[in-house]
Amino acid sequence: MIPVNQPLLNGREKELLIECIESGWISSEGPFVKELEKKFAERVNRKHGIAVCNGSVALDVAIAALRIGKNDEIIMPTFTIISCAAAIVRTGATPVLVDSDPDTWNMSIEQLKSKITSKTKAIMVVHVYGLPVDMDPISKIAEQYNLKIIEDAAEMHGQTYKGKPCGSFGDLSTFSFYPNKHMTTGEGGMVLADDDYLAERCRSLRNLCFKPPRRFVHDEIGWNYRMSNLQAALGVAQLERLDEFVARKRLMGKRYTEMLADIPGLQLPLQYTEYAENIYWVYGIVLKDSILFDAEEAMKRLSNYKIGTRPFFWPMHEQPVFNNMDLFSNETYPVSEKIARRGFYVPSGLALTESQINKVAEAIREIMLNEVLHD
Ligand SMILES: Cc1ncc(COP(=O)(O)O)c(C=O)c1O
Repeated sequence: MIPVNQPLLNGREKELLIECIESGWISSEGPFVKELEKKFAERVNRKHGIAVCNGSVALDVAIAALRIGKNDEIIMPTFTIISCAAAIVRTGATPVLVDSDPDTWNMSIEQLKSKITSKTKAIMVVHVYGLPVDMDPISKIAEQYNLKIIEDAAEMHGQTYKGKPCGSFGDLSTFSFYPNKHMTTGEGGMVLADDDYLAERCRSLRNLCFKPPRRFVHDEIGWNYRMSNLQAALGVAQLERLDEFVARKRLMGKRYTEMLADIPGLQLPLQYTEYAENIYWVYGIVLKDSILFDAEEAMKRLSNYKIGTRPFFWPMHEQPVFNNMDLFSNETYPVSEKIARRGFYVPSGLALTESQINKVAEAIREIMLNEVLHD
């Protein structure tokens, strides 16, 4: 089986983990947590890094830190992971959705403006699959309407927009360090901020809102979302190699595109936009209308070749959990609906070899050729 993801852990990961064990520092109080926060924040040009235990809760912390809640609205893409909408709904606020751009699969800027109401408090920007959202118009709209930006950069380690690091555009920006990301801590995440007050709120919310002068007396409810020293040790070792990992992913993406470009019926990821070069968090493929089968069938066929795949995100407006809450029931977002049904991604992990990429590409060629013969 060629797995859909396998991380590379052959730098200093083992050495730093042994250091944790030998020193006894395994909890969030250990020194690697602060080191990762400092170095990762520096890397993204931010003043503060607040390490948390995954990228989903990083969003919960960000929204709570901004005091967004009941009767407020946050505009976000429908095409993303449920973590984004779930974090909004949990606070009592309402997610307001926009469709995707058909070429980059990122949120549509045109729709965004029409969704602003007097209740809108923030825009949750989510960069998906390796290309950043076009940030300039969003920053302009946010300024014009006095909206906060929550930037979900979970998939964007090492990516830039017009030369500026992704993760530097939000009032609060968040990352995930799940093992399928460009750098991993096993499970983990980070909130980034420049504002001292917001950073302090994030730190407090991640740590049960413990507060001086009297420990165990609280005036706000927080969570235990802390990252352990063991996780941070992995992160420090991975961060040392981030440039190498990004370069490796770009090579992998280019190789896939070279191998697949002449196969009819496939929409492949753009290598460039005006403002960025793809970092291929995952290598996504969308089946064009000329192909008579959908992504589910393509994935089934590829599994016969022992190739791991994953479907694209399923849009928020088609999630039973939200429809049952009377959210988005009569809304339609055609681009997201289409890419959710016709999109999937192929093995994209950092440990993937060139010969595995060639095998995947050959298998895709065969399933597509067979289709032509059948028709
Ligand atoms: C865009 C986006 N946001 C949030 C998350 C959640 O991160 P985690 O899996 O670390 O909770 C992910 C995870 O892949 C993601 O892709």
